Parts: sequence; structure tokens; C-alpha cells
Amino acid sequence: MTFTTPLQRLARLALSTLLLMLVGVGLLTALPGTALAAEASPPVDSAALSKAVVAMEQLDQMRISLASTLEGRTEEPTIETMKEVCKPVGMRVIAIGKENGWQVRQVASKYRNPDHAPANAQERQVIDLFSRHPEINGLWEPAVADQGAGLNYYRRINVEPSCLACHGTKASRPAFIKANYPDDKAFDFKVGDLRGMYAVHLPEVQAALAAAAG
Ligand code: HEC
Repeated sequence: MTFTTPLQRLARLALSTLLLMLVGVGLLTALPGTALAAEASPPVDSAALSKAVVAMEQLDQMRISLASTLEGRTEEPTIETMKEVCKPVGMRVIAIGKENGWQVRQVASKYRNPDHAPANAQERQVIDLFSRHPEINGLWEPAVADQGAGLNYYRRINVEPSCLACHGTKASRPAFIKANYPDDKAFDFKVGDLRGMYAVHLPEVQAALAAAAG
């Protein structure tokens, strides 16, 4: 049996405490290290996130200002005036998607063009959320299984006074709408109602780059 002095015991205690501290420091530095590694490759980079938000704000503003040009006109909107409102918006939707490698859609549960019907459960849930919460303007969701990896951005579309020329009562719809959209559901809206939403799918960075290159 070896004789240990109080000084030796103290030295051993100090050594084991130091070892414990070193292990602790090692763990502390290792943990944020792993967290940083995960953050280094987010599915979609933050510049693309803000770009999507800004693009949808501009798109919505474009429709509002186009529709406002109809205000004060006395003649009924025709297929020609339609070309000045929701058609350019639809074309811009396609162009924004192509320019960025995103999939951009307009979605509405009360739709005029059947292509704009909700396509999956997530779209139906987000429309429902927007209609229950007028204070929510936009939100992000993870992509759904059949979209592959990435994120979805949704932005609400509200009914403005200028929209009622074509989305007001069923009877007051312009003749070209009655004729061209036999299954139209996009009428009987009131100012402030939820008209629908813009839906943007941003694929993972690699997939987006591939789409932009191709
Ligand atoms: C001159 C008539 C006219 C005006 C004014 C008008 N819309 Fe439309 N809107 C249409 C037509 C026609 C369509 C279907 C276009 C298509 O075939 O894609 C449509 C489609 C839409 C869609 C796509 C979803 C769907 O139902 O197919 C949204 C969203 C929409 N309009 C919102 C608005 C908003 C918001 C305003 C006012 C700021 C507005 N519209 C003003 C005629 C109009």
C-alpha cells in the first residue's frame, strides 16, 4: 500500500478535474461543430428564400395595379381587358418559375381555371389556414413527398375592390367569362376575402441549379 500525502491527493483531484474539464470542452466544441456542419448545407440558400418572397410581392402588386386600370371604366370587361389583368399575371407566374428553376402556381379552392385547383393536402391546409387567419400573409412549409427535397412558399391573394368587375356576383360576370369558364367557381367574392394563393416550390440547391442549367 502506498502512502499518499494530502498534497498528492489534492494533485490527483486536480488532475482528474482537469481531465473532466478537457473532456467537457471537447464535447462543447464538438457539438456546435456538428450543428454548424448541418447548417453549412441548408436545402435552399437564404438568398433564394428572400428572392421568392420578393418575387411574389411584386407579382401580387402587378395584378393589383393592372386591375386598378379597369376602375372607372364604364364598358364591360372583355377578353381584351382580361388580357390586361389575370392573363399577364399567369404568364409572369410561368416566367418566374423558368428564370429561377422553381415551380410557381396560383391556387384557389374557388377557382376559375381548373388548373388552379389545390393539388395536394398541404395546399388545401394552407388555404384553410390563410382563410382562418387574415393576418398571415405568407408562410414556408417543407416540400411534400412527390415534390422531392426542398421548400414551399405560400403567399395569400386578397380580393380588392377592382377584382369585383370579374369576381363579383355570378350574374355580373362579363360575358366572356361566362362563355369561356363553364365550371367557374371564382365569383361571389367580397372585398377582403381570400381569393387564393401563390405557391412556390424551391427545389434543393443542386436540383435548382440543374433545372436552371437545363
Ligand atoms: C377583367 C376581368 C378580371 C379582373 C378585373 C380580375 N380577374 Fe382574376 N381572373 C380572371 C380570369 C378570366 C381568370 C382565369 C385566368 C386563367 O384562365 O388562368 C382569373 C383568374 C384569377 C386567379 C387564378 C385562380 C383561378 O381562379 O383560376 C386569381 C388568383 C385571380 N384571378 C385573382 C384576381 C384578383 C386578386 C383580382 C383583383 C386584384 C382579379 N383577379 C381581377 C378575370 C379577372
